[in-house]
Amino acid sequence: MHGGDQIDGRGDPLVQITRLMDLHSRTDYDKGTLDIAELGNDPWATLESWVQQAVDAGIQDPTAFHLTTLDQDGFPHGRLVLLRDTRQGELVFYTNYRSEKGQDLLANPKAGATFFWPHADRQIRIRGTVTKVAAAESDAYFASRPVASRLGAWASDQSQVVESRDALDAQFQKVKAKFSDGVVPRPEHWGGFALRPSVLEFWQGRPSRLHDRVKCIRTNSGWDLVRLQP
Ligand SMILES: Cc1cc2nc3c(=O)[nH]c(=O)nc-3n(C[C@H](O)[C@H](O)[C@H](O)COP(=O)(O)O)c2cc1C
Repeated sequence: MHGGDQIDGRGDPLVQITRLMDLHSRTDYDKGTLDIAELGNDPWATLESWVQQAVDAGIQDPTAFHLTTLDQDGFPHGRLVLLRDTRQGELVFYTNYRSEKGQDLLANPKAGATFFWPHADRQIRIRGTVTKVAAAESDAYFASRPVASRLGAWASDQSQVVESRDALDAQFQKVKAKFSDGVVPRPEHWGGFALRPSVLEFWQGRPSRLHDRVKCIRTNSGWDLVRLQP
């Protein structure tokens, strides 16, 4: 007899899953507003200010953004990376050039970036092209990292298969012994990419799902700004 199961949903696997995961939460977005006039002629200043406000808010990984790359078959691949600089109107992040993202970007330098700051109801979407940052700039950043992170960059063949956790730990110990004098130079295959946006979109959540969206398109002389429907 399954009548009761159907009424309370326990007999329906889909209902059971959605209950366990609580997929029906609803956020009311009411923490701010965004007008084209606030962005003026320089959307980059707003991007830097939103990043700074996230840092000041003390949230975990305030500079994390979702980086999208395209593989050779045109499939998109996404993962989080950390923004390390915004100099010269570019987003700079660091990684292993031989990793999946590194290989994607070296073969096809088009990328997407998405920031999400739930504490502020804000999102920024970006698309543009990437270049490798100068070796001297990567050297300077690498030198600023804690020694364990520098050793990790040598120990990890990022995105390649490893036989076991033990094998990875053994690779780390080997690298530690190799650089026991504490001098750990930057591996040539590790460094920065700089993403130069051609399009930026600022999103500020608003009540009734009538969010503020401002799209900024790079032109020869600056930026064109338009408001988008939510
Ligand atoms: C919050 C967060 C920040 C991360 N920052 C970086 C980063 O700055 N650079 C990086 O190479 N990987 C970073 N990672 C790991 C990447 O998401 C990813 O697992 C790794 O780079 C391998 O990606 P790939 O195989 O697509 O190249 C971060 C992960 C998280 C969750």
